[in-house]
Amino acid sequence: MQGAQIISIGSAVPDLCINNKEISQIVETSDEWIVNRTGIKERRMLTGTNKSVVDLAYSAAMKALDKIHMDPLELDLIVLATSSPNDLFGSASQVQAKIGAARAVAFDLTAACSGFVLAIVTATQFIQNGSYKNILIIGADVLSKWIDWSDRKTCILFGDGAGAAIIQACYEEDNAILGFQLNTDGKKYNELSITYKENSYSLNTLKLFQGQFQYISMNGKEVYKFAVSKVPASITKCLNALHLSIEDVNWLLLHQANKRILQAVANRLSIDNYKIISNLSKYGNTSAASIPLALDEAWQNNQITKEDIIVVSGFGAGLTWGTVVIKWKC
Ligand code: COA
Repeated sequence: MQGAQIISIGSAVPDLCINNKEISQIVETSDEWIVNRTGIKERRMLTGTNKSVVDLAYSAAMKALDKIHMDPLELDLIVLATSSPNDLFGSASQVQAKIGAARAVAFDLTAACSGFVLAIVTATQFIQNGSYKNILIIGADVLSKWIDWSDRKTCILFGDGAGAAIIQACYEEDNAILGFQLNTDGKKYNELSITYKENSYSLNTLKLFQGQFQYISMNGKEVYKFAVSKVPASITKCLNALHLSIEDVNWLLLHQANKRILQAVANRLSIDNYKIISNLSKYGNTSAASIPLALDEAWQNNQITKEDIIVVSGFGAGLTWGTVVIKWKC
């Protein structure tokens, strides 16, 4: 078994910023309501002809590569965690071509807001079993394309963005992806979904069933309850398995869904509020991008430093949730 470490990280957001006041011109809401219930003040939105998740993923990936002067040809694998690809067959191959990582195999990973945690764990398996040495993982989403802009319960929450990390093989004793704990409860898939709706029609003698994906639909109260009950349990299990205590944790980095969820999870775990990494007031819920986006900012601001223990948890549609505990090595 080899070890695995995150050796670089980068992120990208679109230029267009939409604040709560502007949202209140689209649906009946207010800055006060959104800030009180969610902590979100503004979010970014991808606009422009033919702009897609690939553009954001590309920018984030190039920043991560440039920071360590890595040639894209050194990459063995690219995992793109996204639920908003620009091609149902996957977008990772377009990112591979755009960054010039001709040696790397590339695939998409669909796990909504848990996507980046799943991508860290997936990449770590390939490294720890000796298959690959350099892996680029990206969490990127453009959920603005799937929002019902007349639904004030969802359109206030989401934003677009991308974050990328490079995970590299290292000596076993330097392993910095310390452990993980993952879960899915598929019975609750319809609490948060972008469903596929089809119609039937006849073509000569053939009866065809074809349709389209709908907008994001969400049972906000149930998702809230799910997050604040399941995420602390996942973190506790993961820390216990690693023989780590809450006192060992330097930072809590949760999927940036809602400020109240972040605080409730920290409270349940008796983690001090100053240990919560959060930038959701500026970006809203960017789905698979939220964790690497916040991690990159925390690194750039010198908030996190080498050897810090960071508990990272994702949760969302699926319903899927999970934790990975990392030691910061950049
Ligand atoms: N602006 C103003 N009022 C709003 C509103 C908005 N954007 N959205 C809903 N309301 C109203 C409702 O219509 C309701 O009014 P009523 O009492 O007259 O019926 C009232 O506010 C309360 O609505 P409710 O849905 O019960 O609010 P809430 O306290 O549950 O907050 C969320 C809604 C979405 C902020 C909250 O449920 C939440 O954060 N859930 C988790 C969502 C999430 O993080 N999802 C992604 C996970 S990956």
